[in-house]
Amino acid sequence: MSDFPLFPEQASTIAWQVDALYGLLLALTLFFIVLVFGLVIVFSLKYRRKSKDEQPEQIHGSIPLELAWTIIPLFMAIGVFTVGADVYFRIERSPADPLEIYVVGKQWMWKSQHESGKREINTLHVPVGQPVRLTMTSEDVLHDFFIPAFRVKKDVVPGRYTTMWFEASKVGEYHLFCAEYCGTQHAYMIGKVYAMEPGDYHDWLLGGPMASESMEKAGERQFAQLGCESCHQGGSDARGPHLAGIYDQKRRLSSGREVVADIDYIRESILHPQAKIVDGYDPIMPVFDGQINEQSLGQIVAYIKSLEGKE
Ligand code: CUA
Repeated sequence: MSDFPLFPEQASTIAWQVDALYGLLLALTLFFIVLVFGLVIVFSLKYRRKSKDEQPEQIHGSIPLELAWTIIPLFMAIGVFTVGADVYFRIERSPADPLEIYVVGKQWMWKSQHESGKREINTLHVPVGQPVRLTMTSEDVLHDFFIPAFRVKKDVVPGRYTTMWFEASKVGEYHLFCAEYCGTQHAYMIGKVYAMEPGDYHDWLLGGPMASESMEKAGERQFAQLGCESCHQGGSDARGPHLAGIYDQKRRLSSGREVVADIDYIRESILHPQAKIVDGYDPIMPVFDGQINEQSLGQIVAYIKSLEGKE
């Protein structure tokens, strides 16, 4: 059935769970369709008017019947919710230490960059048997990254990061679609996902035109070029906070509020530094919105993340 678009191949670790949930919903729906329409037909035959002056017996409700058709569906709905929530959390919660790939959507193509610095357009190469997390954003309008064979799909939103993870379980070539109408050539915003043996993936990273530098290195270079170091160099007299080890840690703001320095926080602090000022510092950082493209921004974010646990 793999060529039948309603049932794409199952090529990721969560694919069967998504399908099982879908199967459960389909089975419940079919059961009730058959039950309701079967009873409509049976009753309309059984209780049809048999003579012209026949008067039907009047019924004034039944408490046991009403309780039954309220309580039984209630437990069915709770069951469906429980299974659905379980699958949802499996899809949403990325395992620790995934392979990171940055994706930028734009009208009308998908650009991605691997940690090693290797870039690709409208293709995505991933290893099987290893969790992969995509950090995605858009340069223009709303797009949506959809890999049917992996049963994952997530909006790609301008002005913020969204993340999505999967673990490919089967070597192969799979469809990649944009699943959000994004303009006249939306239908052509498609590509291929190549799930490869880890060794082949490694060879692929090294093959072709070599990436000049890793994302981390490219981020470090831009960090220096933009002059970030002049304030963020560390030390007690520094004008800006030291950035080593801040990723995913709590930051106390001048307003007294505490926030976690996740990728969206880092992104916002680069583009719109005045939005959140760390306690003890002055709001003096210049705005970088409009001065850095998404690709460079992703590299700087990757660099700041890489400082985790370094001096
Ligand atoms: Cu991008 Cu539709």
